[in-house]
Amino acid sequence: MPADVRRCPSAQDLAEQVAAAFVAALADAQQQDRVPSVALTGGTIARTIHETVAASTDAHLVDWSRVDVWFGDERFLPADDPDRNARQAAEALLDRLPFDPARIHPMPASDGPHPSVDEAATAYGEELRAHGGDRFDVVMLSLGPDGHVASLFPGHPRLDVHDAVAVAVTDSPKPPPERVSLTLDALNRTREVWFLVSGSGKADAAAIALSGTADVHDAPSAGVRGQERTVWFLDEDAAARL
Ligand code: 6PG
Repeated sequence: MPADVRRCPSAQDLAEQVAAAFVAALADAQQQDRVPSVALTGGTIARTIHETVAASTDAHLVDWSRVDVWFGDERFLPADDPDRNARQAAEALLDRLPFDPARIHPMPASDGPHPSVDEAATAYGEELRAHGGDRFDVVMLSLGPDGHVASLFPGHPRLDVHDAVAVAVTDSPKPPPERVSLTLDALNRTREVWFLVSGSGKADAAAIALSGTADVHDAPSAGVRGQERTVWFLDEDAAARL
């Protein structure tokens, strides 16, 4: 199924469209008596989106205490490091709405019980499996200028891991070097994938991913697809090369 491409006039408009879609998707799942499960991402536009969701006048349509929150990737840093995706999501979204802390699943931190990033990745995969998290409702992904998504970078051997939910990355070209990432297979076990793409620096990567001919080893984003829908939200600058 071809991706649904949404061009937004500005980054703020993109954030508003994604925030509205997020509230609608969660409310819809809850109306069907499901506890929706989402995987969040880090990145600049994700922060704006998180803040926009938290400020949404429609936020009351969702029972935030009945939403399972996971992360697509994380920087293996101490829990209170401001560069942690989980910390950013907490500040912008999770601490601002009445989420149930028991349903928020940050990836392990480097000062937690798992001393190595390998153990952290294994533990997160086990946690996801233990919670029956075999299918997300929505996976949100930021895009790197090199086409990376989560912490799956072009040319990296972790792109070919098919027997794990989460993998350790020890040589990320984007700092910090140590990260935990869901695998492509795990990211693909979702109803919907939403790419959040803002700024001219992402224009080439977006055009390559959407060309239909990209190899996942060159453009990891080309390897992620929702089972029901794949939506690319792009602002004008990011869509310039489509
Ligand atoms: C990270 C994320 C990475 C990021 C994109 C976009 O930890 O850095 O895993 O995927 O979300 O690189 O980042 P920007 O929006 O800041 O460009």
